Amino acid sequence: MKVLVVGGGGREHAIVWKLSQSPLIEALYCAPGNGGIASLATCVPIAATDLDGICGFVSENKMDFVVVAPDDPLAMGLVDRLMQMGVPAFGPTQAAARIEASKAFGKDVMQAAGIPTAAYRVFDKPEEALAYVSACPIPTVVKADGLALGKGVVICHTRQEARNAVIACMEQGTFGDSGKKVVIEECLTGPEMTVLAFSDGKTVLPMVSSQDHKRALDGDMGPNTGGMGTVSPALHETPDNMAFIRERVLQPCIDELARRGCPFKGVLYAGLMLTPDGVKVIEFNARFGDPEAQVVLARLETDLMEVFRACVDGTLDRMTLQWKKQTAVCVVMASGGYPGSYQKGLPIEGIAQAEQDGACVFHAGTRWEGDTLVTAGGRVLGVTALGADIAGARQAAYRAAGHIHFEGVYMRSDIAVR
Ligand code: AMP
Ligand code: GLY
Repeated sequence: MKVLVVGGGGREHAIVWKLSQSPLIEALYCAPGNGGIASLATCVPIAATDLDGICGFVSENKMDFVVVAPDDPLAMGLVDRLMQMGVPAFGPTQAAARIEASKAFGKDVMQAAGIPTAAYRVFDKPEEALAYVSACPIPTVVKADGLALGKGVVICHTRQEARNAVIACMEQGTFGDSGKKVVIEECLTGPEMTVLAFSDGKTVLPMVSSQDHKRALDGDMGPNTGGMGTVSPALHETPDNMAFIRERVLQPCIDELARRGCPFKGVLYAGLMLTPDGVKVIEFNARFGDPEAQVVLARLETDLMEVFRACVDGTLDRMTLQWKKQTAVCVVMASGGYPGSYQKGLPIEGIAQAEQDGACVFHAGTRWEGDTLVTAGGRVLGVTALGADIAGARQAAYRAAGHIHFEGVYMRSDIAVR
């Protein structure tokens, strides 16, 4: 098969790395890819959001299968367009991807399906949202309805903060159209964990759990980022909470989307909080997490291409997933200044030594400038290692990261520390 993966971050490097081990695939392409993906797949310089460009490439080059990894092209309907062309594509349709692309839709699905989540209200008029926050319980959480690069959520500890968040979102247009509507919800507390699941629209096949570290600095301080590191399994995974998440969270969500006429085929991402009142859903996403994919796929034994095909063909009930028993840790090496502004084009050294040391170095933001690999994004690399336990995996990931250097590099030193 000729397979195209759409996207160009660390998550896509992990997907391409895993697919490159599949005997079902003869040729692997990635649009746009990055400096690391280029060693495993042919990178084609088409942006993930250039739907015409991607569809043109797929038909001219006769791709047999397309994997759409990032949220934007899913929300824009790339899978629908590929289906119309008769090309099998892994990922939800535009209608099903609304579970992520509209937080109000996501909450409505959760409410209809009886999935535990924070109590909430939806507003599309700023006056009404402002009146609500003048009397609601504090702290409260203000969320832009649409996609906002992970920046559309504000935890408000005072009424003034809540008012400011509503004004920024709804009146000043900080998130553009994404913020015209807001969800205001109860503030939950407790450790977080992520469970990704494959679905073919009916059957749900949960993956092993994982846990992101979203804040920029050690001790969960500093601004929110796309994710500074992950561990799999999550530090608080238990057989009981995994069974609950499968039966009371993932399956009801898939059933409700099917009932609404938009069956979900792809990876359903449940972002969860283990609150004093039990497991609650923070959000659903319509794709693999980044950097959750790096640690989860590092542990997957099963041929990922077989799983993708079963999701598209509706035969997931005949599959089982095999996992490595080991723990995986991914440490993100970021550009100085991220998630604010940062310099690009800085030479990167030491990746070969890190790989010799046994780590998988997934590239998030890199590119080749002649013979030199340089930085090209905020998150630059995700150094991923396996170990017999959490301590072993942490040690291996940090030892490997220690070989790598670029100017201004920073990483958290407490990934996978309880
Ligand atoms: P999201 O963009 O929805 O992933 O939210 C980003 C982060 O905000 C989450 O990982 C949580 O840490 C936090 N968050 C979101 N919703 C809530 C909530 N209702 N209560 C407490 N924290 C939340
Ligand atoms: N790492 C969080 C996400 O992918 O949404």
